[in-house]
Amino acid sequence: MGVMGRVIMMMMPITPKFIVRWVANRYVAGPELSDAIQVMQSMQSQGACFTLDVLGEEITSLDEAEFFVNEYNRAVDAIVSEGVDANISLKPTAFGLLIDRDRAIENIEKITKKAAQNDIFVRLDMEDNRVTQSTIDIVIEMQNRGLSNIGTVLQSRLFRTGDDIEFLASTLGGNSDVRICKGIYLESDSIAHTKYQDIVNATNEAVDNLLDAGAYTAIASHDIPVIDYSLSALAKREMGPGIEDPRQNASESRAGKGPGYEFQMLLGVRGNIRRKLAKEGHRTRVYIPYGGRWYEYSMRRLRENPDVAWHVAKSIIMPWTNRR
Ligand code: FDA
Repeated sequence: MGVMGRVIMMMMPITPKFIVRWVANRYVAGPELSDAIQVMQSMQSQGACFTLDVLGEEITSLDEAEFFVNEYNRAVDAIVSEGVDANISLKPTAFGLLIDRDRAIENIEKITKKAAQNDIFVRLDMEDNRVTQSTIDIVIEMQNRGLSNIGTVLQSRLFRTGDDIEFLASTLGGNSDVRICKGIYLESDSIAHTKYQDIVNATNEAVDNLLDAGAYTAIASHDIPVIDYSLSALAKREMGPGIEDPRQNASESRAGKGPGYEFQMLLGVRGNIRRKLAKEGHRTRVYIPYGGRWYEYSMRRLRENPDVAWHVAKSIIMPWTNRR
């Protein structure tokens, strides 16, 4: 699989842009905010809620951060005016985290305040290991400033994740809200698991730890062993659709959230599994990326993790494995 992915990735730079666009169409709502709204409205009947992401990351000058501040402002306004059940996901490096930390925090605070005024949750996506600690720190900083509508993502492949769960839960109590995923960035074996089964085991362990810590647990995986394990971990704690979160250490249920947990998937990936979970009553959220930078985003994702190229190719060759 690794080899296939690398071969496909090597061909990408010489693949005509219109072909890349045709493929990306499945995974990206479109270049405009209105495209994202349309996709969300068309998927609402599938029992899904959403998280909206403006494509782009790691800016080179602070002026570029303005674009993201404005676009997320527009996104919040559109969520409200169109009445879609959505929150927002953003990448701290797009707000200047690697250039000027204070300015990045200022920018993120602006968005988080605006979102709070509209009862919208803000998720800081997790990027590579250069910013793991600072992303967690921003969540704590925002919460200290009275903004409880913010949480981040932890990547189970990283060895540090168990400690991060403990830290977030002990600092924020029931206000800790974590999306747990495997992690798309292929980190070195000195800081991360690199083998599939080790990563699955670490993901399952992180789900257990988050549930036990009282954190709101957003399980972001399309991998059946992880989903099945999570379902049994929930059942073991008597958590599930329509049941009020029974955990003593969890916070009270909040608007727009599930009973202590939810499942999250990417637009275009394994919609059949997501729809099945929704039908069973689980809260399911679809990650909806949109924006003019779809080409750069797609190419960067492929460079970072060639396995993504294989997943995409497989979903075209064997479409029954991956219905949008
Ligand atoms: P795995 O990679 O084993 O995939 C299982 C199956 O799902 C594959 O065999 C394939 O069929 C399908 N599949 C998975 N990804 C696919 C794709 N891109 N295209 C087509 N098919 C695909 N990472 C991160 O580092 N920081 C973050 O903030 C986030 N945020 C995030 C949000 C949400 C909602 C999701 C679902 C995922 C993320 N991720 C992420 C990405 C995550 O870390 C991980 O890389 C992918 O979800 C793939 O891992 P799976 O657990 O799905 O398993």
